[in-house]
Amino acid sequence: MTVSETATTEPSTTGDDVLVDVRGVKVHFPIKKGVIFDKVVGYVYAVDGVDLQIRRGETYGLVGESGCGKSTLGRAILNLETPTEGSVVFDGEDIASLSGERLRRKRKDIQMVFQDPMGSLDPRQSVESLLIEGMKAHGLAKDERSAAKRLRELLSAVGLPAAALKKYPHEFSGGQRQRIGIARALSVDPKLIVADEPVSALDVSVQAQVINLLEDLQEEFGLTYLVVAHDLAVVRHISDRIGVMYLGALVEEAEADDLYAQPLHPYTRALMSAVPVPDPLVEDRRERILLKGDLPSPANPPKGCRFHTRCPWRQETRCDTERPQLRVVEVAGAPESHRVACHWAEQIESGEIQAHEVTATLTEQTASGGEDDFVGPASVTEAL
Ligand SMILES: Nc1ncnc2c1ncn2[C@@H]1O[C@H](COP(=O)(O)OP(=O)(O)O)[C@@H](O)[C@H]1O
Ligand code: SF4
Ligand SMILES: [Mg+2]
Repeated sequence: MTVSETATTEPSTTGDDVLVDVRGVKVHFPIKKGVIFDKVVGYVYAVDGVDLQIRRGETYGLVGESGCGKSTLGRAILNLETPTEGSVVFDGEDIASLSGERLRRKRKDIQMVFQDPMGSLDPRQSVESLLIEGMKAHGLAKDERSAAKRLRELLSAVGLPAAALKKYPHEFSGGQRQRIGIARALSVDPKLIVADEPVSALDVSVQAQVINLLEDLQEEFGLTYLVVAHDLAVVRHISDRIGVMYLGALVEEAEADDLYAQPLHPYTRALMSAVPVPDPLVEDRRERILLKGDLPSPANPPKGCRFHTRCPWRQETRCDTERPQLRVVEVAGAPESHRVACHWAEQIESGEIQAHEVTATLTEQTASGGEDDFVGPASVTEAL
């Protein structure tokens, strides 16, 4: 992990140290109805205005409840989803402007590790063939001897024996399969790895091993990571910086240690309060914030602050009319790199504004009529 010394996260940061520069990205999916002619009856605002920079060599952790748009944002960075608005600059080039051979070469630099390694590895291919595919496509397997050497090195880097090459995905455990998935991502020598819920499908005991492996590989190969998870505990140790997402937008962003020491957005406080603490005394006394009400549908997000329908600190003014932007807050001990999208972050932190009961409000039906609403889990704790 590299913690950058120039800790400014203002969107104006553009220098060479920024590998990924996401500006004002929106991804809206049309909701279509109709048998013969498709009619657009609304949109799913999956990602709705995200600015985010990932520096070379760092690990950026992106967390939020399932359905808040994390994977869609990851896919937009990989150019697998075309942003409705905004731009993604990767390594100095706007990826939307690339096509053909240049896009293919750029794609090599951004590799993905998926949640379900079984689903992302072709069961009919041996490990050798899975790993060599990308290498061949990008001219990294020049002759048999050097290819064989590289394959052995890759396997050893992810902690698998050379004998694994002749086996098939079903012959491995979940954790081993994820190691194969990671080796495959590494095989083409990428600059960025987008790991989307890389350990969510694994047993808790294996999760830490895979996270540690990712950390070791980062150091060894000089990688930059975007690690996406719905669980704060997963990104905690691996991340240099963390962005917390709620209904298509970032609500808080900070260096990982700062976020844990002083969560300032009400949603982050709630997420954090759901993470168990190993010390039983602290565990007994710690404050738990249970969020009431469903995660609203991204097809019909609340006006003003998107979190206002569930926020225990919601105020009569501004909260339901004015959408808060990520901003540096004037809170003692909070550095400039700690940004929060809440109108009342300072007053909440000082205790001037106290939490109150939230009456769960029913979210209105979506424009699509409601049968295929996109509904998330009922509470944060359910998602964690
Ligand atoms: N291709 C698509 N078409 C329509 N809606 C989509 C599509 N992909 C994702 N969505 C919707 O966008 C929202 C965000 O999804 P996603 O990015 O997968 O969230 P997360 O990864 O945080 O769970 C969800 O409501 C999901 O149903
Ligand atoms: S702006 Fe209002 S509703 Fe939104 S998080 Fe802050 S206090 Fe809660
Ligand atoms: Mg996802």
